[in-house]
Amino acid sequence: MIGKLNHVAIAVPDIEAASATYRDTLGATVSEPVDLPAHGVTTVFVDLPNTRLELLHPLGDGSPVAAFLERHAAGGIHHMCFEVDDILAARDKLVADGARVLGDGEPRTGAHGKPVLFLHPKDFHGCLIEIEQA
Ligand code: CO
Repeated sequence: MIGKLNHVAIAVPDIEAASATYRDTLGATVSEPVDLPAHGVTTVFVDLPNTRLELLHPLGDGSPVAAFLERHAAGGIHHMCFEVDDILAARDKLVADGARVLGDGEPRTGAHGKPVLFLHPKDFHGCLIEIEQA
């Protein structure tokens, strides 16, 4: 069911420092910060030849990334995003197999303007998984 790895998201306490690390130390192509108020994050996109990274920093009150950084002060891998062809068919199969979909179970528009859903990390060996209809 899952296809390409669309991105790996990394929560960071200092997005300027993290951008500089990926740009200057690792030599990657790094975007300017983009505020996504609907998701409670500021994001920097790191383009790699075969996928991308998203550096996430909390934006506003109640950001889901803020809670993560309280538990992981140095930052860390927040989620992985896999592409699917049909997000509703994927959701229905996952739910039928006992996986928990976060939120109200309906797809939301993600950081790339595509429908996304998040799956409970306890059902996926400790990893928060995002699926995106590519
Ligand atoms: Co994501």
